[in-house]
Amino acid sequence: MILSPSLLSADCGDFAGALRDLEAAGLRWVHWDVMDGRFVPNITFGQHVIRGLRGRSSLFFDVHLMIEEPERYLADFREAGADMLVVHAEAVRHLQRVLAEIRRLGMRAGIALNPATAPEVLEYVLDDVDMVLIMSVNPGFGGQKFLPSTFGKVRAVRAMLGGRACHVQVDGGVTPENAGELTRAGADVLVSGSSFFGHPPLAERLAVFRAAAE
Ligand code: DX5
Ligand code: ZN
Repeated sequence: MILSPSLLSADCGDFAGALRDLEAAGLRWVHWDVMDGRFVPNITFGQHVIRGLRGRSSLFFDVHLMIEEPERYLADFREAGADMLVVHAEAVRHLQRVLAEIRRLGMRAGIALNPATAPEVLEYVLDDVDMVLIMSVNPGFGGQKFLPSTFGKVRAVRAMLGGRACHVQVDGGVTPENAGELTRAGADVLVSGSSFFGHPPLAERLAVFRAAAE
């Protein structure tokens, strides 16, 4: 299981320190929640902030775009240093073209599904994605309550993917209490914000998540 901590729940006054702490604690991924105030009712940070931190971290930058028409900014996020770029199926009109362009630019391509979005949207792009992000809360904020419908959806998405080497990520309200059932259902990447950063020391919290996900 890969844990991808959401910086939204870190000290937003010291992202460089938070990234250093994550690397020191043994994390390999970090989750950037980019929000535009339109696709979701919140605004966070964008490509300029990510660019500023890129040179200070060797972590895998897992960038979650909760923005309208993300196709306008693909090259910007590549230039800023994104390794994985995840767009919402609900925010993109030409999904296959956007996923192909993300890969052409040299990033891994991901699709995010809101809680009410059925896995069937993936049917004709299964070979165009490197990760499916399954939202287990309605996007926009950290610290929300996990939606139990997520377990069945993870199973359904993993079944659709068959033997493809595609990550299944779950994002929102993930804790050590639900991590085991999520990984058994087929998730291999878990995002955690409040349940991770809220329980330092981080290295020990990572061990708790890993033990729960075994
Ligand atoms: C919500 C974001 C999530 C959130 C996770 O829109 O996509 O990544 O920050 O935070 P927790 O783990 O606290 O739900
Ligand atoms: Zn996220």
